[in-house]
Amino acid sequence: MKRITCFAIFLFSAVILSAQGENKNSLNLIPAPVSVKQGAGQCTLPYNAVIWYNGQEDIGKIVNQLADRLNTGGNLIRIKKGKSDMPGSINFVLTNEPDIPAEGYQLIVSRKNITLKAGQAAGLFYGTQTLLQLLPAAVEFPERQKPIKSWTLPEVTIADQPRFGWRGLMLDVSRHFFTVQQVKDYIDQMVKYKFNLLHLHLTDDQGWRLQIKSLPKLTDVGAWRVERTGTFGTLSKPLPGEKATYGGFYTHEDIKELVKYAADRFVNILPEIDVPGHSLAAIAAYPELSCTPGEYYVSPGDRFMIWPGGGQHFYGTLDNTICPALEKSFEFLDKVFTEVAELFPFGYIHMGGDETARNFWEKSEQIKALMQEKGLKNLDEVQSYFVKRVEKIINSKGKKMIGWDEILEGGLAPNAAVMSWRGMKGGIEAAKQGHEVVMSPTDFAYIDYMQGDASIEPPVYATLRLKKAYQFEPVPEGVNPSLIKGGQANLWTEQVYTTRHLQYMTWPRGMAIAEALWSPKEKRNWEGFSERVERHFSRLEMAGVKYAPSMYDPIVVAEKKDSVSVLLRLSTEIDGLSIHYSFDNSFPDQYYPAYTTPLLIPKDAVTVKMITCRNNRPVGRMMVIPVADLKKRAGIK
Ligand code: ACM
Repeated sequence: MKRITCFAIFLFSAVILSAQGENKNSLNLIPAPVSVKQGAGQCTLPYNAVIWYNGQEDIGKIVNQLADRLNTGGNLIRIKKGKSDMPGSINFVLTNEPDIPAEGYQLIVSRKNITLKAGQAAGLFYGTQTLLQLLPAAVEFPERQKPIKSWTLPEVTIADQPRFGWRGLMLDVSRHFFTVQQVKDYIDQMVKYKFNLLHLHLTDDQGWRLQIKSLPKLTDVGAWRVERTGTFGTLSKPLPGEKATYGGFYTHEDIKELVKYAADRFVNILPEIDVPGHSLAAIAAYPELSCTPGEYYVSPGDRFMIWPGGGQHFYGTLDNTICPALEKSFEFLDKVFTEVAELFPFGYIHMGGDETARNFWEKSEQIKALMQEKGLKNLDEVQSYFVKRVEKIINSKGKKMIGWDEILEGGLAPNAAVMSWRGMKGGIEAAKQGHEVVMSPTDFAYIDYMQGDASIEPPVYATLRLKKAYQFEPVPEGVNPSLIKGGQANLWTEQVYTTRHLQYMTWPRGMAIAEALWSPKEKRNWEGFSERVERHFSRLEMAGVKYAPSMYDPIVVAEKKDSVSVLLRLSTEIDGLSIHYSFDNSFPDQYYPAYTTPLLIPKDAVTVKMITCRNNRPVGRMMVIPVADLKKRAGIK
């Protein structure tokens, strides 16, 4: 233990030195601010600096959060009401100056002291995040043992404001459950990058995670499943009599605590209850909500659902849908949304609506009767009938409804907002119909996807590299930009078992999405961003937050040369790296041949091994790909 502490202190002093050096050259702010005017000097904050503010309660919370970060290890930062011109002071100023827009701020770090101005508390909060990023990485270290004598910041004037009001991250707490503390930790991480919305995917086939007092079986039964570890979709079904031991849920008290914690950090929580599909946990608790009588269980991630591809609908071996033909389904949803609306103050409730399996509906006599009674021509219209009724329920609780883009099928509910995930097209269509849109397309914003080559990343559906995520542009050509509320990155957790992996999947791609949602479009620049990301790696290390180093790994393309041989094309996501390789099964390093032109894999080679280097030292991970896999990729049998 002692050795760990000594090492941590050493590491932390080393980072202070290097971070102070860096700050002279570049501010490394993520997301990039609107305007930065850097001076040549520095501001020094003494260990006992005073933070001044007007005494307002919401601003007091921000000031306290800043003081807590500076005070770790016994510093004596003080907080006072009023203003001061004292050297080394920090002044929080709420102003009605017209040139500071909503959520915007001005941060002036002079050689003498620091002034942070905003028209609203939210702006002061975002300005505080910028201020913290101007401080050395040591400010991220939570277990500081000794006070820091003084903090040094670069002289700078920053004027800043967000591009979009909806800057979200979605966390799937159904497929794997994360505790209140773990969700708070995630909020702490996201606010550093000025995200202001946490979308909690609270229900799915693998677990119902929200206490509904009027429907106790939802959590007595629906929150628990048998425990399995491995690859989602291949996991084994519950055995007869096997106890459901994995799971958890949030009580009303838990949600109140989370909502307050988030609000103190200017984060709204968007609750999602995913219906009519993805509802196996609810059906396991209340099987009478299904159109299909049968035995139901909360799925541990077994293959009860099949995705045929080619744009066709899901079909299931179990009916995981809430039946639109039953009045009791809507009575159930009324109870659910009554409690959801009371618990979550945010103005929107997400009703899911995605990936509804239709194969049981096709066979259901009740659905046929519903179609006849209501004049519904097809199953799209059945889904639309369901969604419109859900919208009425949600609106009756004083909330707006948002759903995944499938809610467009069969006709959009009159007031609904659309979250576009199957590309941007659903969002474009919804905006053309005059509806609000949040963009979260798989192509740019699905952070459950692998971040690099499948040979080195934990396997999951598809790949989304950092560079691609950074190209996320939420406003497509030809739509009314005022209908695009913003965007979000989505972290589905079928393959995310732990918070360490949650962090690995989120960072650094979360930084790319944060910049797409906050910074002016014209400020965005991949080379500059990737350099800033590298600086932030040391901050994440200090904070004990895991990140993916995938941007250092080679991009591998295998091409068929002839019926037996493969040509390898290698490249890198960031500049300044060389790629070194071997075909002889040994581990390459900087002394191995460097890639310059496409490589023909030698006839009997079994593996290709690769590593990237910078300044003659390895920086990437050792990538090992069997030649047989590369042949498959190239289409050679
Ligand atoms: C989704 O990814 N099924 C919304």
